[in-house]
Amino acid sequence: MPILDTVNIPELPNHYHGKVRENYDLPDDNRIIIATDRLSAFDTILTSIPYKGQILTQIARHWFDQTSDICPNHVVSYPDPNVVIGKRLEILPVEIVVRGYLAGSTSTSILTRYKAGQREMYGITLPDGLKPHQKLPEPIITPTSKAFDGGHDEPLSPAEILFEGLLSEMQWQTLSDYAFKLFARGQEMAAKRGLILVDTKYEFGVDENGTIILADEIHTPDSSRYWIAETYQNSFDNNKVPRSFDKDFVRNWVSQRCDPYKDPIPEIPANLVRDTSAVYIKAYEAITGDVFDAAAVDQHIHARVRRNLEPYFTV
Ligand code: C5P
Repeated sequence: MPILDTVNIPELPNHYHGKVRENYDLPDDNRIIIATDRLSAFDTILTSIPYKGQILTQIARHWFDQTSDICPNHVVSYPDPNVVIGKRLEILPVEIVVRGYLAGSTSTSILTRYKAGQREMYGITLPDGLKPHQKLPEPIITPTSKAFDGGHDEPLSPAEILFEGLLSEMQWQTLSDYAFKLFARGQEMAAKRGLILVDTKYEFGVDENGTIILADEIHTPDSSRYWIAETYQNSFDNNKVPRSFDKDFVRNWVSQRCDPYKDPIPEIPANLVRDTSAVYIKAYEAITGDVFDAAAVDQHIHARVRRNLEPYFTV
């Protein structure tokens, strides 16, 4: 299967190497963002998943298109299936997570905290008596500090965001208004496709005029939790996690076999890679309603990307 793992296009300027994406800052203040197929976890690259870069780019494109009436986004153009050219922004240091359900299993998840007896979190008081995976009375925003340079995201309350000067009051008002409206649109459109948009994360930046602009990705399976709607009620009644796009086989397989932060990572079996790729394809088709034509993907993605980016070469 075709893979885009490393990118080497020396004719493009100002290279910034990200864990999963390769970025180039253009002289006109736009940024080329190439989504590779790399799978990053435990501060390392575990393997590459065929079609992942294209699928994430195309799912984000679907949602950017469907929400551009709500708030401006960073998109300038899509020169290649794996590439977006975005406006270069100063990214705001707060990640805006919106949640419609009591869910999750990480330390920042509200279900983890709720189960531990907490009712006050992120400046919000949740009512007693909620069951795991229950719909919240209304969606909430649970902001976290953006961990630059590999740190960990930490929960924040609106009061802390303002007190620490991370955002101005106006910025917080605008961001939260955008985030609730984007999430409402996402939930409404997902519902029409038999999906529940459970929670998601937005990143915003400001341009040279101070305008707040949606950056990064939106409502992708990497930044969002989706449940399959028809499995929800039964799972909820039986205290089980509703079915989702479970794409964490590789991660789980690795963490069952070693301490991924200390030990060498064992070679990832091909079937796990294939199965993960199939989940991304399934998510693409479920979310967008389009068929994913794997056969139409160029066998030599790097050559195609290079060709499509030739107009931006500076040397
Ligand atoms: O793990 P947690 O429950 O806090 O995640 C909430 C939502 O935010 C999920 O949809 C998850 O995909 C997203 N998220 C993210 N990037 C992070 C943390 C959370 O996209 N660094």
